[in-house]
Amino acid sequence: MKLLAVLLVVAGTGIPATRRLLPGDPDHGRELFRSQNCVACHSFSGPGASVGPDLARLVARGFTPAQLASAMWNHAPRMWAAMKRHGVARPELSEQQAADLFAFFFAAHSFEKPGQPRQGEEVFQSKRCAECHGLDTALGSGITPVSGWAPLPDSVALTREMWNHPRSGFVFPRIASRQLTDLLSYLQSFQGQPTGPRAFSPGSAESGTTLLETKGCTGCHVDPKALESRSTRYGATDLAAVLWNHVPKLTGSTPPVSYQEMRDLIAYLSSAQFLEERGDMERGKTVFARKRCATCHENLSSGAPNLAAVSGKMTSFDMMAAVWKHGPGMWSRMQERRFAWPHFRDSEMADLTAYLHGVEFRQRSDLVRQRVRLAVDPRQ
Ligand code: HEC
Ligand code: HEC
Ligand code: HEC
Ligand code: HEC
Repeated sequence: MKLLAVLLVVAGTGIPATRRLLPGDPDHGRELFRSQNCVACHSFSGPGASVGPDLARLVARGFTPAQLASAMWNHAPRMWAAMKRHGVARPELSEQQAADLFAFFFAAHSFEKPGQPRQGEEVFQSKRCAECHGLDTALGSGITPVSGWAPLPDSVALTREMWNHPRSGFVFPRIASRQLTDLLSYLQSFQGQPTGPRAFSPGSAESGTTLLETKGCTGCHVDPKALESRSTRYGATDLAAVLWNHVPKLTGSTPPVSYQEMRDLIAYLSSAQFLEERGDMERGKTVFARKRCATCHENLSSGAPNLAAVSGKMTSFDMMAAVWKHGPGMWSRMQERRFAWPHFRDSEMADLTAYLHGVEFRQRSDLVRQRVRLAVDPRQ
């Protein structure tokens, strides 16, 4: 999936810069979390090792690549010390792997929050599902009552039913993501299923990409309606609601989507939200000066590489890869000079990488034209 060259877009004055990030795959990220030994020390919302913090705590809404990059950078020396103590080999992370881990953290955290069955009953009535679907008895010929429905493990399953649902004969109702989880809980309680939070399992963004073709999405979603580069931060349930609300836009017949395919599409849409990274180059320049990076990086005799080499290819994911690969060498030079390990706030990291990236410019308007915002925020 190395389809995206890094690209920098700046406004006329040349300051706020936008870069293109590699799309990450939550399935690969989950695997890396294990294979790269993160599990030896970290848990992710649930039981697991506790040498390092539970990483789910890190991922609140608004989680960004820059936030993960600054967390990794800030904690790196203590993490390396823990690795030494516990005899764990220091993993190396490529830019793609950093993207995959990010996608895993984001998807895993945002997956499903428990809904309220009582509110869900209200949704079932107000969205008029009850007019056609009885709970136990069929209200119309050939219409399955709820008791006959296939089990609904999560909101993706329910959205998938709506995507494949007959569309004629009624006004297709809109839904907010909160209502979606409430409705789900109601239906689950009726189906005798547990209604608590679910074990998460994001899909594969990579197969999601293929599905855009095979499910006919690209028939409508080409420039300027491409699905990439939307500046939203929706979790999986929000995206499920987006797709539910999308059904009335499907004119003509569309191929049915399976549960697995729906998960993969949502994994792709989730990852596509992060394809653009912004930062302010001017502020990044100040960060670079204030953190004394230039002491070594603009002084060849220090043995530090000239950071001109990273220009045109520096994003938060590159920075994560650099920290894992070059951090220990850098840290030992800093210790020789009695420098403290510098810490960053998230916004400083986004600005710093924008500054380091800082060369190839393209007119910002190119991207603005390509970007189509979500018409209605499903969280409302
Ligand atoms: C040998 C144990 C160990 C291993 C292996 C390890 N970590 Fe850590 N990690 C730690 C410790 C300890 C901390 C907390 C450091 C501190 O307090 O500053 C930490 C902190 C972090 C943080 C910052 C958390 C926060 O709350 O800001 C991130 C992100 C992180 N680790 C990611 C990873 C990833 C990704 C991997 C696998 C590639 C990994 N770690 C492997 C021990 C480990
Ligand atoms: C105008 C009538 C009508 C309304 C209103 C309606 N449905 Fe349906 N629904 C159908 C028909 C027809 C089918 C296809 C036949 C079948 O499988 O029951 C169907 C199928 C389904 C299925 C698949 C059942 C299976 O076989 O497992 C689900 C799930 C479903 N509807 C959910 C809903 C929900 C949720 C609502 C409210 C947002 C709703 N429906 C509103 C008529 C309706
Ligand atoms: C018949 C044309 C058509 C097809 C097919 C189609 N879409 Fe859309 N889609 C639209 C239109 C029209 C909009 C609203 C304009 C926009 O935001 O791009 C939209 C919007 C969206 C949005 C933004 C949500 C919103 O409500 O604004 C997402 C996400 C989306 N589509 C995903 C998909 C996916 C995934 C597929 C394939 C499984 C798909 N679309 C297939 C026409 C289509
Ligand atoms: C004490 C000297 C020193 C300071 C201060 C320093 N670095 Fe470094 N840096 C190094 C050395 C040495 C390396 C190469 C380490 C290696 O590869 O083992 C390096 C490597 C890097 C790399 C990897 C470059 C590549 O080729 O991928 C990045 C990115 C980087 N530093 C960023 C920074 C930033 C940002 C700051 C300021 C917060 C900073 N450095 C401060 C010495 C320093």
